[in-house]
Amino acid sequence: MDARRFVAEKTEEIRQAVGENRAIVALSGGVDSAVVTVLGHHALGNQLVAVFIDDGLMREGEGAMVAGAFADEGIDVEILDRAEEFFATLTGLTDPEDKRKAFRDTFYKTLGTAVSDSDAKFMLQGTIAADVAETKAGVKTQHNVLEQIGLDPGSYGLQILEPVRELFKPQVREVARELALPESISERMPFPGPGLATRVVGEVTPERVATVRAATVIVEEELAELRPFQCMAVLLSDRATGLRDGGRAFGQIIVVRSVESNDALTATPTEVEWSKLRQIQERICAEVPGVVKVLYDLTPKPPSTIEYI
Ligand code: XMP
Repeated sequence: MDARRFVAEKTEEIRQAVGENRAIVALSGGVDSAVVTVLGHHALGNQLVAVFIDDGLMREGEGAMVAGAFADEGIDVEILDRAEEFFATLTGLTDPEDKRKAFRDTFYKTLGTAVSDSDAKFMLQGTIAADVAETKAGVKTQHNVLEQIGLDPGSYGLQILEPVRELFKPQVREVARELALPESISERMPFPGPGLATRVVGEVTPERVATVRAATVIVEEELAELRPFQCMAVLLSDRATGLRDGGRAFGQIIVVRSVESNDALTATPTEVEWSKLRQIQERICAEVPGVVKVLYDLTPKPPSTIEYI
């Protein structure tokens, strides 16, 4: 693929398709939707509405990072603060599938409202070739966000454009570099749609997300130099007795997970140096309130998955 030619062709295609209308794009912070947003902006300028749904399940500073990176591109991202709604629907849920469904329903409801409010006739989506293949193979539910919830995009008066659907992830990253997106986006690790909720076993509450978010900062900082495919912190629902402040404390357990993979379909644990693991443990116990135990996950995929719910 010639990235420069790809950018020129897709920009022209989007411009032709959208004409004088408005288009909307929902940014996730990931590289796929970022590339599509910049292509859309090149093609449409102010006719493109870019929204970022802050579900309260993002990593530390993610909304600000995304808004900042796009402001540098001259793109105004509207941040929709919907954390309260997401936490309300997740309250009391502990079953992984129930949690995923609650997340999905709230996400689509929020997106549907944003689409109606925007008056857009087109929606740009960061579907990539792997999404299409996984949909066909039945691994993923239908990748098209509106069809996923059984909605005909036409019922919103919307036409979907998927400018990167022929590309695989490494090519999307190439296009991101061609578009001069910052490395923090072009080389960004995959991060799941339901965010930190996939890394909180048991009930997802603001407090529990805050714990896993603080531990995530440490894991990402410490492992950055190893450039793992994906690394994360996970909060278990079990607890363990530890010693804190001179007494016994029945505290939280954090799992550190880091994996190597090409396509996320299989994965192996990163071989992290013992001294590095000790450093991560010390920092998490010292800096994240309530944590008394830190574990490293040695399990490949399969039999594990990468995420925890
Ligand atoms: P698992 O946990 O199934 O994850 O081994 C495989 C890859 O997919 C990501 N992942 C998701 N991505 N929505 C997403 O957009 C999801 O619900 C979801 N669940 C898992 C995961 O981070 C890994 O890269």
